[in-house]
Amino acid sequence: MSAVLAERAAPALQPRAPAVVLLGTGVVGGAFLKLLNTPAASALRLVGAANSQRQQTDPSRLAERGLREQLKRDGDARDDARLLAALDDSGAGTKVVVDATASAELASRHAEWLARGYHVVTANKSLGGGDLAGWRALQAALARGARYGDAATVGAGLPVLSTLRRLRDCGDGLLTLEGVFSGSLSYLFNQYDGSRPFSALLGEARRLGYTEPDPRSDLSGEDVARKLLILARNAGFALGWDEVEVESLVPEPLRALDTDDFLARLDELDAPLAARHAEAASRGHVLRYLARLNQRGHARVGLVEVPPTHPAARLYGTDNQFALTTTRYHTQPLVIQGPGAGPEVTAQALLGDVLALG
Ligand SMILES: NC(=O)c1ccc[n+]([C@@H]2O[C@H](COP(=O)([O-])OP(=O)(O)OC[C@H]3O[C@@H](n4cnc5c(N)ncnc54)[C@H](OP(=O)(O)O)[C@@H]3O)[C@@H](O)[C@H]2O)c1
Repeated sequence: MSAVLAERAAPALQPRAPAVVLLGTGVVGGAFLKLLNTPAASALRLVGAANSQRQQTDPSRLAERGLREQLKRDGDARDDARLLAALDDSGAGTKVVVDATASAELASRHAEWLARGYHVVTANKSLGGGDLAGWRALQAALARGARYGDAATVGAGLPVLSTLRRLRDCGDGLLTLEGVFSGSLSYLFNQYDGSRPFSALLGEARRLGYTEPDPRSDLSGEDVARKLLILARNAGFALGWDEVEVESLVPEPLRALDTDDFLARLDELDAPLAARHAEAASRGHVLRYLARLNQRGHARVGLVEVPPTHPAARLYGTDNQFALTTTRYHTQPLVIQGPGAGPEVTAQALLGDVLALG
């Protein structure tokens, strides 16, 4: 195909159409780029895109198909200032930085960007679910009128954060929050019935792409803890990172190994989990990796035995579940459940937050 044919027609947009810079062109960023080519995003203008090494701000190169692959081969050296300048040069009334990375370093700049008048929309949990000082800097920027789109950080865009904020705006207080916040841990414990070693199930989940390439990122509970922190903070509990009790499923001797060595010793996970499973089964219960926040602000993530009548016992596949008990939803919790991971829904959550900026 010729280069000319490979290019999309340059969109005829009003100069004040919202301008977007995309940081991260991995799984989620790639899905976001695809959504930008759909009619739903026709009012948006991409003025910059970057991976960890390279970036592009040339409008004709940005309009090429395969931008993700192009950035792997060539582009300018990474320079955030140049990307922000592209937003300024666009003349757009709404300038948006979309963060589709997991970079703590980039997240630490969100508050500064907001203070400088850029909107930030993020799938990156490192600020909302990071240290308290970062969260407070974010709150200070929001108090000055900045807008922060974070729907993609919890439940991959399931309407959890928006519901929590709406209830709070109406004076409804959160009493408890409980649920399964990880697609991979949901899948593993929905499947695990003791008939196969846990390591075999984990290997299968990894092959299906349900876990990170190094499954310790999932099994450590850290990602779940970040999501619980984001929710707790949005419910009014300004918790620090060290105030979440985290039960890691990775045995101590396996924590510092490199990935290949860890993968070669996966069977060391089996005996402890088989014992936990047998104990739960003797009482007719099942195991679930739950996140819990109580009324006093105590936050914990870890493996819990639940009876078959518990909402988390009835989960399927990689579904997430968020059960909110509030002063007005107190007889039965308000339960939000559904796919809580996946590039398409996560990218859609980013797009929804960008479009909501107007
Ligand atoms: N995957 C999901 O289903 C899902 C769901 C909800 C939320 N999330 C969150 O979404 C974020 C992205 O996830 P992913 O699955 O797309 O990860 P990924 O495939 O590993 O992609 C990460 C991207 O970020 C880029 N990056 C890293 N540091 C950067 C920097 N300083 N500047 C610019 N780009 C940088 C990487 O560049 P290189 O290509 O050069 O390495 C890569 O393109 C994470 O925070 C994740 O927790 C993911």
